[in-house]
Amino acid sequence: MKADKYYLKIKDITRHGKNIFRVECESETVLPKIHAGQFAHIKVPNKELRRPVCVYRNTEKTITFIIANVGEGTDAFTSLPKGAVFDALLPLGNGFPILPDKTNIALLGGGTGCAPLIKIAEDNPSLNVTALLGFPDKHVKDAYGDDFDKVCKRVCYCTDDGSCGYHGYPTDLLTELAPEVLYVCGAPAMMKTAREYCKKLGVIGFASMEQRMGCGVGACLVCSVRIMQDGKEKLMRACADGPVFPIEEIVF
Ligand SMILES: Cc1cc2nc3c(=O)[nH]c(=O)nc-3n(C[C@H](O)[C@H](O)[C@H](O)COP(=O)(O)OP(=O)(O)OC[C@H]3O[C@@H](n4cnc5c(N)ncnc54)[C@H](O)[C@@H]3O)c2cc1C
Ligand code: FES
Repeated sequence: MKADKYYLKIKDITRHGKNIFRVECESETVLPKIHAGQFAHIKVPNKELRRPVCVYRNTEKTITFIIANVGEGTDAFTSLPKGAVFDALLPLGNGFPILPDKTNIALLGGGTGCAPLIKIAEDNPSLNVTALLGFPDKHVKDAYGDDFDKVCKRVCYCTDDGSCGYHGYPTDLLTELAPEVLYVCGAPAMMKTAREYCKKLGVIGFASMEQRMGCGVGACLVCSVRIMQDGKEKLMRACADGPVFPIEEIVF
């Protein structure tokens, strides 16, 4: 589907922990269908280049983002007050494929990498979904409230400091699961571990690659991902060919 520009108004913005923001927005016009894993390219104040952010949840006229303030662009954006209006190009990217006849699903997310995963469960209520979600601490986990609990069969929260749920990484618990399909988004180390797990157990895996981006629409090649297909390595664009790729094809 072609992306269009939408004007979004910030209805609520809450900070969680040091630098995580939950940004609830509303649109005057009806938003298009957005698939799990697709993203918005957001215009941030005083920056030429837009910033890519996945769509966490949405309805016809509301959309929520979970954003880490990590630099100038995200700092300017998360400093916007309630009521501010910004524009976003959406929906962009391919999103996570939902495979027919595969109902036993696991989600593996870390930090803001949990955000693109929830719509897999929310938009496909017939799936049997277990989520393994990792955060630095309880405050960051709180940005998601109990949203995952409402749509997943089982959720395991993990924190690096032990302040909530399992004390350790979500990848520690992967071997306790036997999903048919694993969907992943997070730090490269997490994705690498997930790829090895999928290879070893013959699990189908898909990962969302949150590369640094420029144009966001396939023209600048800033977002290249190394992909191995048929024994040959090639570069693919996270924005236009991804951001979701079969995990066994990604060269980390
Ligand atoms: C498809 C996609 C979906 C994304 N979804 C989200 C999301 O839901 N929530 C969210 O918080 N972020 C998300 N990101 C990452 C987000 O786009 C970047 O953090 C943001 O563009 C950084 O802009 P900045 O100007 O604040 O930081 P910059 O000043 O550009 O960079 C600050 C620091 O962040 C690092 N950085 C920049 N871009 C990235 C990146 N893509 N991945 C990792 N590190 C980066 C830089 O190397 C630098 O160290 C997503 C990225 C992609 C490609
Ligand atoms: S960001 Fe320009 S090609 Fe992907």
